[in-house]
Amino acid sequence: MITMALSKGRQLKDFIKYLDEKNLTTWSTALKSVSRELVIETDSIRFILVKGEDVPVYVEEGVADLGITGSDVLFEQNRQINNLMDLPFGYCHFAIAAKKPKEVYPVVATKYINFTQNYFDSIKQPVKIIQLKGSVELAATIDMADAIMDIVQTGTTLKENGLSEQVQLDEINARLISNKHAYFAKNDEIQTVINQLRMG
Ligand code: PRP
Repeated sequence: MITMALSKGRQLKDFIKYLDEKNLTTWSTALKSVSRELVIETDSIRFILVKGEDVPVYVEEGVADLGITGSDVLFEQNRQINNLMDLPFGYCHFAIAAKKPKEVYPVVATKYINFTQNYFDSIKQPVKIIQLKGSVELAATIDMADAIMDIVQTGTTLKENGLSEQVQLDEINARLISNKHAYFAKNDEIQTVINQLRMG
């Protein structure tokens, strides 16, 4: 039995849609029936539902053999996992957003402190990073920060909070990852899942 960690929320909806497109209806039906439970058993896979940023933790620890999470999460965390496959959903991008363009952004609020530090190092600009766990837009709206570094998908959240994209950065999509040991120990089962996800 393979255990796969999935991210709750928007990415789960995209994954279910993808499974339907590939006619993997046993899995999609099981996931559609989820209300609050965190473990969903099917005959071939046990899914566990966690926060996106925790997916690589469960996979690195080996509690999950496989996981699906956004490349933004993998950029941010330097985890000892195998990056197996790009998946064609969960598309969005990193961006710096602010009320209006400025020459420099000395104070930036974000959930992505490593990505943000790397970016400002790469453009050789000093930055003070304020780490938040969510509702990051607010930091720029109420002037706690000059800008935010966040992911943008539809742009609705920025717009509704009076912010706009100033610098568009790396593209993001969903990735299939595996535990390093499980990749060898359960290689046949993992290859079967990869083939099913590729071909349906
Ligand atoms: C992300 C991100 C933005 C929003 C952008 O948050 O932090 O707030 O999505 O999406 P949009 O461009 O389509 O409006 P998410 O919904 O993942 O929730 P979170 O704040 O709990 O991480």
